[in-house]
Amino acid sequence: MSMTRRDLAGLAGATLLASAAAEASAATPATGGTVTPTPAQQKLIDAAQDVRQRAYAPYSHFQVGAALETEDGTIFKGCNVENLSYGATICAERNAVFQAVAAGHKKFKAIAVIADLPTPITPCGMCRQVLGEFGGETEVICTNLKKDVMVSSVGALLPAAFDFDPSKYK
Ligand code: THU
Repeated sequence: MSMTRRDLAGLAGATLLASAAAEASAATPATGGTVTPTPAQQKLIDAAQDVRQRAYAPYSHFQVGAALETEDGTIFKGCNVENLSYGATICAERNAVFQAVAAGHKKFKAIAVIADLPTPITPCGMCRQVLGEFGGETEVICTNLKKDVMVSSVGALLPAAFDFDPSKYK
C-alpha cells in the first residue's frame, strides 16, 4: 500500500500557509502548555522512560526514549542508537516507528518522548516527517525527567510538511 496526499491530510501544512493561521500558530506554540497526563498517556510515558535507559548514546550522552501506541493498543518502544559515523544515528522516535511498521502496524494513536531536558523534548524535524507519513492526527506526548508534560499532534508540530503526489511523477 502506498501513501497518498489524502493520507497526509491530517497534517496542518496547507492550512497553516494562510497568513491568519500562521499568525495564530505563532501566538500559540504547537505544544501548548504543560498538562497532567491521563492514565493512558502516563502508561506511554512510563514505557518511554523505561526504554530510554537502553539508549546507546556514547557520543552525545543524550539519552532519548520513545513509546508508540498503535490503533489496537500495542506499544512499541524505541531509544536513540548512535554511531561513530554520526549521520548513521537513529532517533528514539524513528526507532519506535520502524519497529511498529516491521511488526505490521501503520496506524498510530500516540507517541510519548522523554529526555533529560529543562522542558519537554519535542521530536526533531526528521522524526516529525516520518511520523507524518502515517498521519497528522497522531498525538505527541512530550515530557522530561521532571515530569513536565506537553501534548500536541504530528500535524501541529509539522506545519507545511513536505508533501507531493508521487503518481504525478511516473
Ligand atoms: N535524538 C532523538 O533520539 N530524538 C530527537 O527527537 C532528537 C534527538 C537523539 C539523536 C542523538 O542520538 C541525540 O539525541 C542527540 O542529538
